[in-house]
Order: sequence, then C-alpha cells, then structure tokens
Amino acid sequence: MSFSTHFSHAITRRPAASIIAGLRAVDTGTPDLALMQAHHAAYVATLRETGATVVELGPLEAFPDSVFVEDTALCLPQGAVIMRPGAPSRLGEATEMAPHLAALYGQVVAISGADSYIEGGDILVTEREILVGRSARTNAAGIAELTRLVAPWGHPVREVHTPPGVLHFKTDCSLLDTDTVLSTTRLSASGCFDGYRVIDVAEGEEAAANSIRFNDLVLVPAGFPRTRDAIIAAGFTVREIGNSECAKLDGGMSCLSLRFTPKP
Ligand code: GLY
Repeated sequence: MSFSTHFSHAITRRPAASIIAGLRAVDTGTPDLALMQAHHAAYVATLRETGATVVELGPLEAFPDSVFVEDTALCLPQGAVIMRPGAPSRLGEATEMAPHLAALYGQVVAISGADSYIEGGDILVTEREILVGRSARTNAAGIAELTRLVAPWGHPVREVHTPPGVLHFKTDCSLLDTDTVLSTTRLSASGCFDGYRVIDVAEGEEAAANSIRFNDLVLVPAGFPRTRDAIIAAGFTVREIGNSECAKLDGGMSCLSLRFTPKP
C-alpha cells in the first residue's frame, strides 16, 4: 500500500460555533454552522466508509479555524511533525493537537524556531518526496526546519511556490495516486509537477483542486462537475462532499483531516 494515498487513521475536529469568526481572504458571507456540521458529518462518514478509524475531536471555541486540522501537523509513516502555523490566531491549534498524535505515534517532533512558520496545507506528500509551498503562512525557516526533521526518516523536501493570492499550496493541488496530481493550471504551469502525470482542473473550477485521495476513494467538493468527470474518466472512484460553508473560509477537503498510518 502507498503511504501517500492509503491510511488506517484520520483525525478530524468538529466545527466550533466561533467558526463565523474564521479567517478568510475575501468575505463572501457568514458560514452557516448547521450546514457546515452536516457537511462535516458526511465527510467523516465517507472517511469511515473506506475502513479507516476516524478520531473525531470536539470543537475548540477559542480557535475559530480549528476545524482545519491539517494545518497543525504533518503525519508520516515514521512519526508526526507538529507545525507552527503562520497565522497568529492559529498558533495554539498545533499545541492542542500534539497530545492526540503522541497517543498514536512513537515519535512526535515539532517545528520550534521562533522565526519558523509552516502550515500543513502547504505540504504535499508523495511517495518520492515532500513538496512544500512557500506562502504567506509558510516561510523559508519553517521549510528548512522541516527538512532537517524529516531527513532521518528518509523524506527529501523540495521547496516550491504557492501561486500569488492563493492561501496554501494544496489549495491548488492534490495527490490522486503515487504518480498523478490534480492541479490548477496556474500551479502546474510553474513546472513544479514535472515528472508526475497531471490532471488539470477545469477552467473556472479551481476550487476542485483541493480534493483528497483517501484509500479507495477521492473526496471532491461538490459543484465542480467537469473536474469530477475528469477524475472519474481517469479511473478513480469519486465521492462528492458539500463544501460551501468551509469554502467561505478558504477551506477544502484536505484541510479537514490529518490522514496517516501511525507507527506506535
Ligand atoms: N480559514 C482558514 C485559514 O485561513 O487558515
């Protein structure tokens, strides 16, 4: 099984009522908590449908964006790395996640430099390398520290760039199998996926690029039919998940979970 597409576990966190104060690049309306909860429940049920164990954490009212757990850690087969989010309001979310990963993993290390910032949304793990996009949330010091921490585990890190105005590197891409990436054309045009097979999302459907391969399924945000059909035509089994409320906070399929197979 590929460690970058197949997982025994996921961690999610239910959205807090404070989600209405979540960070967003552009205000497109207040998220509807009840609808977000329904979408979140469907997301968790779909992860479980693949046979995985999903640890559902309770809401954290002090951290409006805490439903987006992916930004708090990087989970690899050998161990977990606790991130240092670049958004000041999100820094404490990583500390909240650490004990949950320590309960499952033998090795948990942390990004700790005072000037180091890195969020999980900027990290794409493939079978052969870890791509990290420099962004408004992830800086050179954070990438350098991550590179040092995962080197003993045999993972090379390659720094790439997140397109201007895009929140995270993975806002614009997903891994579909060990060699195939789903990407926006604005990102794939940079050449960062040379050597991979690239499926470009349909023009006008850029938000579909943040999908996830999770075991035998690809979870795709609902509402992007041309991209959905392209993924199906490439041989993948797709589940569409409502994402209208998380999208108001620049969140998508990858942001909502940590996906891993822990090594005790
Ligand atoms: N609202 C998600 C984030 O900005 O981190």
